[in-house]
Amino acid sequence: MIEADLAVVGISELATPEGQSARRGAELARLKLIADAAVACRGDRVVFVGTEREFRQSVTVRPGGRAIDARGATVLPGFVDAHTHLPFAGWRESEFNERLAGATYEQITARGGGILSTVAATRAASLDDLAVLTRARLDAMLLVGTTCAEAKSGYGLSTEAEIKQLEALKKGATGHPVAVVPTFLGAHMIPEDHRADRARYIDEVVGEMLPEIARRKLAVYADAFVDAHALSPAEAREVLTAAAKSGLGVRLHADQLADDGSAALAAELGAASADHLEHVSDAGVSALAAAGTTAVLLPTATFFLMQRAKPPARRLIDAGVPVAIATDFNPGTSPGEAMGTVLEHACLTLAMSIDEAIAAATLNAAHALGRAEDTGSIEVGKRADLVIHAVPNRYHLVYRFGVRRVRTVIAAGRVVVDDHHLL
Ligand code: NIG
Ligand code: FE
Repeated sequence: MIEADLAVVGISELATPEGQSARRGAELARLKLIADAAVACRGDRVVFVGTEREFRQSVTVRPGGRAIDARGATVLPGFVDAHTHLPFAGWRESEFNERLAGATYEQITARGGGILSTVAATRAASLDDLAVLTRARLDAMLLVGTTCAEAKSGYGLSTEAEIKQLEALKKGATGHPVAVVPTFLGAHMIPEDHRADRARYIDEVVGEMLPEIARRKLAVYADAFVDAHALSPAEAREVLTAAAKSGLGVRLHADQLADDGSAALAAELGAASADHLEHVSDAGVSALAAAGTTAVLLPTATFFLMQRAKPPARRLIDAGVPVAIATDFNPGTSPGEAMGTVLEHACLTLAMSIDEAIAAATLNAAHALGRAEDTGSIEVGKRADLVIHAVPNRYHLVYRFGVRRVRTVIAAGRVVVDDHHLL
């Protein structure tokens, strides 16, 4: 008999991708589905997944353990949010109103707003304030079913402020149920005080920030934003090549507002992910497929920027590029933590199927963060990260758009959200 300390039983539908790597092409939609299912956990691991009948034959819940009845509900892996800009201060609702009145994101950036206004607010905030903000946002993520999230700096843009952001992220995330994967994004934009001498800023990122961040082990990845208002492809290449030499993995904000060949740059650098991709060219798609770089699509950012160009999800999937979806949570282009909303947009705007969106928001996202061996699916041996949704089957997650439906969240084998009002 398998001994468990926590079990979820009577599950109407369990849906999970399977494996320790990204699913590509037609495989993306292939979920394991179990009706009348049960899951059992011991410590922080999954020790059983199967039908309730198999569960009764092979699992005992130890005295003092807990069995949760999930009759009428659907169980999925916890969402993995593979792209967020979590530790910032200050919101930008006034810029949002300007955009609603016709201003473009680029116009706001060009007059010194946008990312740079968040830089000013983040520089002014203390490390402790940022840690508190970070923790509150992790709580919000957990409530909507996210159990693992990537989080970027990039609103400091000085050695001191970038390190403050990453230290605040570490402090805010310590002991929190959401597992956080930190990314250094000092190459988000050239700060105002270095506009006259861009090369000096790049030197600072490479010569000061990267070595100190690597020494303090504050980041697992480095990211850069290639754009007419941000870094040139050559500047991003310099930063990310140095980052890889100092042992960090590489990611890239690519082809978001124009096709500047940055998807191909991500592929050339062996990046773990190329993110956004609204304007990616066919050559960029082929390069990503050949390199095995995951395309992290951010459909709520596309929506929130009212962009006409959409990330070509179907073209990427058909080309065999591993596709993940994420929130891009940040104050300018996607101020929402909800992965459920991301699934809705992945389906209704990018024409992904619900099963594809589920795999893209779990296993493929975990793969994009180098975590697919540990999380992203409900399988024996993996971290027990799973969510009970108060819906009869997985289709209702998107079909009943806009409705809150997370009932119970289990992270690393512990019940961390339990909403008895649902179901
Ligand atoms: O992913 N594209 C660049 N960075 C962010 C936007 C950040 C901001 O506007 O504050 C993004 O969309
Ligand atoms: Fe982003």
